[in-house]
Amino acid sequence: MESKAAVALAKNERMIIETINVAPPQEGEVLVEIKATGLCHSDLHGMDGSWDFSTGFPGLFGHEGAGIVREIGPGVSSFKPGDHVLTFIPHCGHCPLCSTGKTNLCYASFVDFLETSRVDFDGQKLYPFLGLGTFTNFNVFREMSLVKVRDDAPFDELCYFSCGATTGMGAALHTAKVEAGSTVIVFGLGGVGLNVVQGARLAGATQIIAVDTNPAKEAIARKMGATEFVNPKTVEGDLAGHLNEISGGGADFTFEVVGNTQLMQLAFECTKIGWGKCTIVGIAPDEARLEVPPTMLVQGKSLIGSPMGGVTGSQIPAMVDLMMDGKIDVASLITDRLPIDQINEGYDKMKRGEGIRSVVMF
Ligand code: APR
Ligand code: ZN
Ligand code: ZN
Repeated sequence: MESKAAVALAKNERMIIETINVAPPQEGEVLVEIKATGLCHSDLHGMDGSWDFSTGFPGLFGHEGAGIVREIGPGVSSFKPGDHVLTFIPHCGHCPLCSTGKTNLCYASFVDFLETSRVDFDGQKLYPFLGLGTFTNFNVFREMSLVKVRDDAPFDELCYFSCGATTGMGAALHTAKVEAGSTVIVFGLGGVGLNVVQGARLAGATQIIAVDTNPAKEAIARKMGATEFVNPKTVEGDLAGHLNEISGGGADFTFEVVGNTQLMQLAFECTKIGWGKCTIVGIAPDEARLEVPPTMLVQGKSLIGSPMGGVTGSQIPAMVDLMMDGKIDVASLITDRLPIDQINEGYDKMKRGEGIRSVVMF
């Protein structure tokens, strides 16, 4: 069948809006009509070549997709036409990684996605970013890359649970395991970082210091639960010293949600001696390296990374329930709804630091 899509022909080029071909679902695959797809910063990291993992050209980017199952391939047992679903990192259930229950990572994320691609444009197979590819009205996904969700939730908010909302809240709740009464510092208040703030609030943190170089982020950060806002550009002198002072000697939990190695080092430094935990959520370029004083590790500080908030697909419906019950606010973070024809303008806005999450609606 044909589908309207945004195709990235080459690295650093603007996407073109074209009609692509979608082949029928094969064994274990599902055809989904995408209703909404979020614009996440990770797609940009892929498009500009700073993150090679699961990226290829010509590519079909987008990994925050929510939609409706339209057709199932042979052997598909967990979905039927009409089901509402969202895309997520795969979970095969039997590989040496995901079968342990210790990680949300699965070896099915580390295969050649060109082989599983069912989309082509102009006679060339399109590389589906992260094995997904949601900047299209229709695409075929592996059954293990989809999560069934309740059908009364709005698609524009739902698609955010495919990555941004889940990664942010999961980093606070699942990876760091923020405790009630604790002190938290979040560096970077984009679509992911604001959900870390929200997750910390949900966990009962009493002091949540939100740090961003963009002063326009203060109001929304406070709405998500931040108790303080710090703009590094207006801090005179040593930023680490200032943050350690207002957090009472460092925070129990810090999060880096930008992808900047200097900020990661700072986030690690700003943890409390004895037990402070720094969680890395931002994606730095593959060749980047951190400089961490090992003595700080021996002082009991720890450093950990959070892949997709450490969340497995089966935990997402409960997060969607939190939204539907009004316990978390996702709607306030969706600042733009666009047709696919304006997807490049959506990314221009992200680069300028305007808005929080833009969503393409079909
Ligand atoms: N100090 C503080 N804040 C900064 C700095 C800095 N040096 N540099 C950038 N920021 C802020 C920006 O002002 C912006 O508010 O970080 C935020 C980044 O937000 P987005 O561009 O919306 O990115 P987001 O989608 O939240 O993703 C953040 O997490 O999952 C990863 O790949 C993703 O690496 C990316 C990161
Ligand atoms: Zn697996
Ligand atoms: Zn993402």
